[in-house]
Amino acid sequence: MTQTLSSTPADTAPARPSPHHALKVLSVHHWTDQLFSFTLERPEDFRFRSGEFVMIGLPGEDGSKPVLRAYSIASPHWAEELEFFSIKVPDGPLTSRLQKIQPGDTVLMGKKPTGTLVLDALTGGERLWLIGTGTGLAPWLSVARDPDTYSRFGQVIVCHTVRQVADLAYRDFFTAGIHDDPLVGDEANAHLTYYPTVTRERFETPGRITDRIRSGDVFADLRLPIGFSPNTDRVMLCGSMAMIKEAGELLETYGLKEGSNAEPGDYVLERAFVG
Ligand SMILES: Cc1cc2nc3c(=O)[nH]c(=O)nc-3n(C[C@H](O)[C@H](O)[C@H](O)COP(=O)(O)OP(=O)(O)OC[C@H]3O[C@@H](n4cnc5c(N)ncnc54)[C@H](O)[C@@H]3O)c2cc1C
Ligand SMILES: NC(=O)c1ccc[n+]([C@@H]2O[C@H](COP(=O)([O-])OP(=O)(O)OC[C@H]3O[C@@H](n4cnc5c(N)ncnc54)[C@H](OP(=O)(O)O)[C@@H]3O)[C@@H](O)[C@H]2O)c1
Repeated sequence: MTQTLSSTPADTAPARPSPHHALKVLSVHHWTDQLFSFTLERPEDFRFRSGEFVMIGLPGEDGSKPVLRAYSIASPHWAEELEFFSIKVPDGPLTSRLQKIQPGDTVLMGKKPTGTLVLDALTGGERLWLIGTGTGLAPWLSVARDPDTYSRFGQVIVCHTVRQVADLAYRDFFTAGIHDDPLVGDEANAHLTYYPTVTRERFETPGRITDRIRSGDVFADLRLPIGFSPNTDRVMLCGSMAMIKEAGELLETYGLKEGSNAEPGDYVLERAFVG
C-alpha cells in the first residue's frame, strides 16, 4: 500500500514571494570617509529605466525587519552589474552598516524600480542639463551612459556641486573614463560636458551651481547663451532638498515647466535625500 504523507495547511499554503532580491556584493570602492560606491550582481529578470531608483537594504539585526532606503541606480539600464553611489551617515540606520559591506556579502534590493529622472518624463530639446549635489550625481552616471540620451540630445551637461574637492567622486570618469565606454564613449567624447563646482574649498569653478546660474558664470564658462530656454533646454535635478527647491524655482523663472512620467515637461526632479 502506498502511503501518502498528511499535510498541514501551513505546508500547502503557497510560499509568499520575497519582495526583495538578495544580491551578492561584487565590489566596493571608498572615495572618502563620507562617500562610497558598490556594485551588486544583477538578477536576470530585473529591468529598469536609466535614472530610476530602487530600495536597497540589509536584514534587520537580531531578526528584526530589514532596513531599506531609496537608492538611485548608478548604472545604465543595459549594464550587467548594478552600481550604487552612497553617503555614509555615521549614525544612519542603514549606512552606518552598509558602509562596512565587502565583496561576497549579501545586500537586499527591492524588485520595483521607479522614479522621474528618466528621459521619458522630458519633452524633446537640444541640451540636457543633469544638475546634482553630493550623491545626487548617482542618476547622472546612469543617464549619461544611456545611448538614448545622445539620440535625444545634442549636448549633455553634468553639473556636480560638492563641499570639498575630494567629494568630486567620479571626476576622472566624467573627464576621461566615459570616453572609453563601449556603447557611448564616442558620443560622450563629442557631446558630454562635465561641470564640477566646489563650495567650501578653493576651486576653479567655485560656489553653488544655483549661484553660478544666477550670475551667468556657468553659461559664460560653457560658451552658451545666458539663461535657460524652454525651446532648447531640458533639466534633471537631484540632491539636497534646498538645491532642488531653489533650482526648480529658478527654472520656472526662465519659463521651464516641471514634467512627470504621466505628463512629460521641461524639467524633472528627485529628492536624493531628506534634509
Ligand atoms: C528617491 C531617493 C533616492 C536616493 N538615492 C540615494 C543615493 O543614490 N545615494 C545615497 O547615498 N542616498 C540616496 N538617498 C538617500 C537614502 O535613501 C538614505 O537616506 C541614505 O542611504 C542614508 O540612510 P541611513 O538609514 O543611513 O540614514 P537616514 O536616516 O536615511 O538619513 C539620516 C540623515 O542623513 C542625511 N542624508 C541621508 N542621505 C543623504 C545623502 N545621500 N546625502 C546627504 N545627506 C544625506 C539626511 O539629513 C538624513 O535626514 C535617496 C533617497 C531618495 C528619497
Ligand atoms: N568633507 C566633509 O566634511 C563632508 C563631505 C561630504 C559630506 N559630509 C557630511 O555629509 C552630510 C551631507 O553632506 P553633502 O555635502 O553630501 O550634502 P549637502 O550638505 O547638501 O551639500 C552638497 C553640496 O550642495 C550644496 N548646496 C546646499 N544647498 C544648496 C542650494 N540651495 N543650492 C545649491 N547648492 C546647494 C552645498 O553647498 P554649501 O557648502 O554652500 O552648503 C554643497 O556644496 C552632511 O551631514 C555633511 O556633514 C561631510
